[in-house]
Formats: sequence, structure tokens, C-alpha cells
Amino acid sequence: MEKLIIEGGKPLKGEVKISGSKNATLPIMAATLLTDEPCIIRNVPHLRDTTTMVELLRSLGKQVEFNDNKLKITSGEKLKSVADYKLVSTMRGSFCVLGPLLAKLKIAKVSLPGGCVIGIRPVDLHLKGLKALGTKIQIENGYIIARCRQLKGAQMYLGGGFGSSVLATANVMMAAVLAKGETVIEAAACEPEIEDLTNMLIAMGAKIEGKGSPRLVITGVKKLSGVNYKVIPDRIEAGTYIIMAAATRSNISILGADTSHLMALVDKLGDAGVKVYNENGVIKVKSKKIINPTSITTYPYPGFPTDLQAQFLALMTMAQGVSVITDKVYPDRFIHIAELNRMGANIRREGVNAISQGVKELYGAPVMASDLRASAALVIAGLAAKGVTEIHRIYHLERGYEDLEKKLQGLGAVTRREKE
Ligand code: EPU
Repeated sequence: MEKLIIEGGKPLKGEVKISGSKNATLPIMAATLLTDEPCIIRNVPHLRDTTTMVELLRSLGKQVEFNDNKLKITSGEKLKSVADYKLVSTMRGSFCVLGPLLAKLKIAKVSLPGGCVIGIRPVDLHLKGLKALGTKIQIENGYIIARCRQLKGAQMYLGGGFGSSVLATANVMMAAVLAKGETVIEAAACEPEIEDLTNMLIAMGAKIEGKGSPRLVITGVKKLSGVNYKVIPDRIEAGTYIIMAAATRSNISILGADTSHLMALVDKLGDAGVKVYNENGVIKVKSKKIINPTSITTYPYPGFPTDLQAQFLALMTMAQGVSVITDKVYPDRFIHIAELNRMGANIRREGVNAISQGVKELYGAPVMASDLRASAALVIAGLAAKGVTEIHRIYHLERGYEDLEKKLQGLGAVTRREKE
């Protein structure tokens, strides 16, 4: 295992280029199972999660080449219907092969993904939607076994106790595109990653109305074709670098990202005293020494994203006053509090709220990465802190931040990787 050493307390400068979106890429890769024709997917980030998905597609019978952020996926041997525990348990995103396998083969056996440090993460909404389309579901030895004679369009409501579900919408939409007749998904997730998947499916010949909205109307077609498709930029990666600039009181430029996907963050940063604006297609971040305390609540898109909650909390640890950070999407996603407190932050948890009393400065410390976004919060805190921070178990960061160290060093940060 390796650790990341950060010499903090130095402002960042220059520019950083944002990679393709991890969370758009994963369902888009799964969607290639819906066709026998070749698919080219561009702007694919090289990450642990995307390479796990490559392995999963290969295990299902696809041939996959992955070079220079481009995937070429072609049909190899006959498509297999079993997605193995070893691959699905390491990455929840892989559960979205269930819908496409079922649509294509009429049977799919996919390991249940299980929970993770950010919460229990059930799959009831995925199964509710697939059942509405006429699927019989059994759970055996930790696997979902889904079978159908013929998927049939249906009207369904996919909202849950915590709002819409991103991957349940993806799974059900991918099944519905090859179902017989019309499917209406109410309370569909509106995240840009779902809109990207919708655009890709439409480019393959699917008939979908209402893209990007909570009401998707899908008319099933018999067959989908291959596609050459470019994935959208990663809004969470962009948001992480924006917050990083704010935390280190820096002015930086962010290339290749889309502020329209980040309006909730830009708005809240405005309250905190940080200006984020678009200049000729480049995002500029202008920070101030003083950070105003700012409270946020996470919601499904277009609300403040849960995937930026930990990073925003890291910023608020240095604000001049009290901020309340509430996670309504993953109420247990607060494992980073203890690690940030080890760096001098003053945060306490009360139910779904993290209450941060801002401190004058953070100081470097050895800390433990626990999940992807919590680890990004520790990187932000480490860059802003006085002294040296050692982040252990950095493999979490490799799941979601392409070329992180290269990008940090390009911004003038002093970091290095060492063996544990
Ligand atoms: N939920 C249910 N039932 C379900 C599915 C979800 O109750 O069947 C609940 C969840 O427990 C949660 C809420 O609904 O409280 C939203 O979860 P959602 O299903 O939208 O999450 P997901 O689709 O499993 C994706 C991202 C996550 C991101 C969430 C929320 C991918 C691969 N993952 O997960 O990304 O946090 O949406 O935006 O797209 C990350 O990148 O670090 C990450 C965790």
C-alpha cells in the first residue's frame, strides 16, 4: 500500500484540466452490452473503477481495448449472464449491468453489491423498476437472479425515501429501451450523468423523451446499433479542484469543465466569499483570505451533490464561524469528520448534520482515507494545512481522480507518494 505526503500551506496557481466523468462512464460502459455492434467511447478516465468495469465487460464476453482515454468495445464470444461477486463487490457502479443483461439475454445473475462506508445502499428501487417491466426476481446466495419472457413497458414511480436513484434510473432505462411498448419513469434521477447515458442510448437508436427531467418516456425498440460517443467532463472532479482552490486561498483556472453542472456549488461558494465564473469556456476561481461560514444540505441534482459534501466540509473547517453540513442523500456519509478533527478541525456530528466551528488553521497529521470523496476532503485539508499531512490508503483516490498527483503538482502543490 502507498501513502500520499502533502506539504501544505502553499497557495496553488495555474490551470488544471478536468477528465471525463467516472459516474457517467460506468453506466455508459454497461450500455454497450445492449448491442452486438462495435462501440467507441471517448474521454474515458483511467481509474481503478473504469478498469474494474473493463474487467467485468470482458468477463461477460466483450472484447475491450482501452488506450488514450478511448474504449473500443466489440462483441467477442457469446454474452454471459453472470456478473461475479469479486467484481461487483468492489464497485457498486458495476450493478448497472443488470438492466442491459436482462434486456439482451432475458436472464441475468448479478451479485448484490452490498453496503459500503458511506451507508447501507439498498437496491430496492432497481428491483422495483425491473419488476414493473415484468421481471421475476429471486435472491440466492448473495446474487440477484432476474428472469423475464419479454420485458414489457410500464408506468412506474422510482422515488425513494432519499429521493431519486441515479443507478436505479440507469438500470431501468437500459432495460426499458429494448422492452415492448412504452415505459414512463416518474421521479427519474436528473443528474447530468443520467442525461449523458440518455444521449448515448439515443445515439444508439433508443427512443427516449424527457432527457434530463424527472419524467422519462421510453418507447422500446427491437435493436440498438453501435456508437461513437464522448463522455461529459467530471463535475465532481471539477468541484473538488474548485473547493481546493478556495481552501488554499488560491486563484486557479479549470479547463474542460461545465459550470452549468455545478450551479449549487458555485452559489454556495459565493456565500462563502469565493468567486467562480466562466471566462471564454474556462472556469476561474478567485478566493479570499476570509472564508464565510456557509451551511449546505445535499439533495439529488440540481441540489448540492453529496459527492462534494466532504470536500465542502473540509473548506468550512477554516471558515470564520459555524457551518452546518447536512447530508440528505447519504445520512451516514461522515466518516471524514474524525480524520479532519485529527488535523485540528472542530466538527461534531448530530444525526444527519456535521456542525463545524471554524478554526484559524488546520495542521498536518497522519490520516486515513476511507472512501473516495472523504479522501479528496483530506487532500484539500492537507493542502491548506500548516505542515506535512500523510494520507494512508490512497487507493481510494485512484478510484475517482485521474492523474491526481500530476494535476496537483501542475498547480504547484508539493506532494509525493511513498510505500507504507
Ligand atoms: N437508494 C435506495 N434504494 C435504491 C437505490 C438507492 O433507497 O434502490 C438510496 C440510497 O441509499 C441513497 C439514495 O437513494 O440514500 C441515492 O442513491 P443513488 O441510488 O442515487 O446512488 P447510486 O446510484 O448508487 C451514484 C453515484 C454515487 C453518488 C450517488 C448520489 C455512481 C457509480 N455512483 O450512486 O457516487 O454518491 O449516485 O449522487 O454513479 C462517488 O462517486 O463517490 C459515489 C459514491
